[in-house]
Amino acid sequence: MEKTFLMVKPDGVQRNLIGEIVARFERKGFQLVGAKLMSIPKELAEEHYGEHKERPFFGELVDFITSSPVFAMVWQGENVIGTARQMMGSTNPKDAAPGTIRGDFGLTVGKNVIHGSDSPASAEREIGLFFKETGVVEYSKLVNEWIY
Ligand code: PPS
Repeated sequence: MEKTFLMVKPDGVQRNLIGEIVARFERKGFQLVGAKLMSIPKELAEEHYGEHKERPFFGELVDFITSSPVFAMVWQGENVIGTARQMMGSTNPKDAAPGTIRGDFGLTVGKNVIHGSDSPASAEREIGLFFKETGVVEYSKLVNEWIY
């Protein structure tokens, strides 16, 4: 089953949007298999956003993502990588459609509430970076036992 890495960014955590965001992915039908509130060390931020190293906003991006805790998650489900990106909306909230997370809550291209892996290769890399020590939790729904 496909997995993706999603992260509520510092602006989303500060604005108490963790529950709203988790609820959207739960209601969609995806399964949460990893989650933690954490402060990102500078080295991890630089590695995570390494592909943007040469871009003019790199310093600002690293400063922002390390400025306050993030809520890191791994979600699982059919086509979860692409569907989560659609549910997030365009990177720049001014272009994000209403009904998407960034369209509903995002302010600027930097403070855009959520990060999500953009391909299977980045999902694998980002899950490896953030959930190296703990791994994820594989579990089945106990439909016939106590959910009915
Ligand atoms: S994308 O989707 O990768 O093509 O988007 P991109 O425009 O390349 O942006 C990559 C990430 O950088 C963040 N970003 C910025 N942060 C701070 N300041 C400025 N000006 C800025 N521009 C882009 C953007 O939110 C993307 O973060 P993630 O976490 O990958 O969504």
